[in-house]
Amino acid sequence: MIPYGRQSIDQQDIDAVVSVLKSDWLTQGPLVPKFESAIADTCQANYAVATNSATSALHLAYLALGLSQGDLLWTTPITYVATSNAALYCHAHVEFVDIEPETGLMCPNTLEKKLAVANQQGRLPKIITVVHLAGQSCDMERIHKICQPYQIAIVEDASHAIGASYQDKPVGACTYSDICVFSFHPVKIMTTAEGGMALTNQKELADFMSYLRSHGVTRDPELFTEESHGDWYYQQLALGYNYRMTDIQAALGISQSQKLREFIARRNVLAERYQSAFENTPVIPLAQQQGTNAYHLYIVRLPNHAKQRKVIFSVLREAGIGVNIHYIPVHLQPYYQHLGFRKGTLPNAERFYQEIMSLPLFPALDEADQDYIIEQLVRLL
Ligand SMILES: Cc1ncc(COP(=O)(O)O)c(C=O)c1O
Repeated sequence: MIPYGRQSIDQQDIDAVVSVLKSDWLTQGPLVPKFESAIADTCQANYAVATNSATSALHLAYLALGLSQGDLLWTTPITYVATSNAALYCHAHVEFVDIEPETGLMCPNTLEKKLAVANQQGRLPKIITVVHLAGQSCDMERIHKICQPYQIAIVEDASHAIGASYQDKPVGACTYSDICVFSFHPVKIMTTAEGGMALTNQKELADFMSYLRSHGVTRDPELFTEESHGDWYYQQLALGYNYRMTDIQAALGISQSQKLREFIARRNVLAERYQSAFENTPVIPLAQQQGTNAYHLYIVRLPNHAKQRKVIFSVLREAGIGVNIHYIPVHLQPYYQHLGFRKGTLPNAERFYQEIMSLPLFPALDEADQDYIIEQLVRLL
């Protein structure tokens, strides 16, 4: 089976991990801050906090921005459940903003209208989390402009988009957001096996996320609220978690980050090959806006074949092509239905779900395999 995504691991990565295993520090050693600095530099952000997953980074981000019981967080329904689940961990309520059908991204016009209504009703969200679906940045300047009058915090779930750019700056620079989160799961652009990171330009948020990731405990004298008892001293400042990344993961992350540019370039070459192959066919790739797409996923729409999508999917799988669907709209999940969300409330997302298919895309995908995928799909249609 040609998978829809796959990690690229070379000897440099293996050597980096082995050298940590032979060192004194498997966790809480020097490589986590080194990895954080490397990613903060690459993304032109002031601070980075590494975690054991993007889900935990999202949880920390929401807590740092003060999300708590009874608050509202708005996000897109076309995302992985983790984006909204992390708000539920904070005992907040979630609402979904419908998408633009052509890009699959949260629709700024719908957001603008929904906020105006919510403002009148006194039901404004505390946080809006946008998702850079498949590796393409949302229009962050526009979203920032829409949210600013209401003083709503903005989180970028950039789990798909490390290495992408927006307005000539890397995604992660947080020019128009408070916090930006990456995932380093193996199917993503670069990997630490499991792992995530939260980037921000605000020191207070970075400090809070740093100690919250480790039980709420700090050893930073600048943050102490009482006089230190001595060199062993630490303080618990909040109820935190163990969301730490290990040095083994960080070593892999540092090594992988050195190849980020290469990974993105290769993904873009493959994406362009798909794009030109699908011209004048019923296969519609997601519309591209400005900036560099990191192409975590290659999602296409099959608007004229939505009814046959199930069969097309099975036939392609039988042909050894690991197609996938990103995503089942979150509000249609049984857990969310149980919370009161209903089918029919987010028509664009629901139609998008009927039409989409993710085709294999990863740096080691070779042209012959890609041609086979294109040929099988186009022939079927
Ligand atoms: C958009 C999005 N957000 C969050 C996550 C959660 O990432 P992690 O597996 O690193 O917790 C994923 C993972 O698939 C994702 O695609």
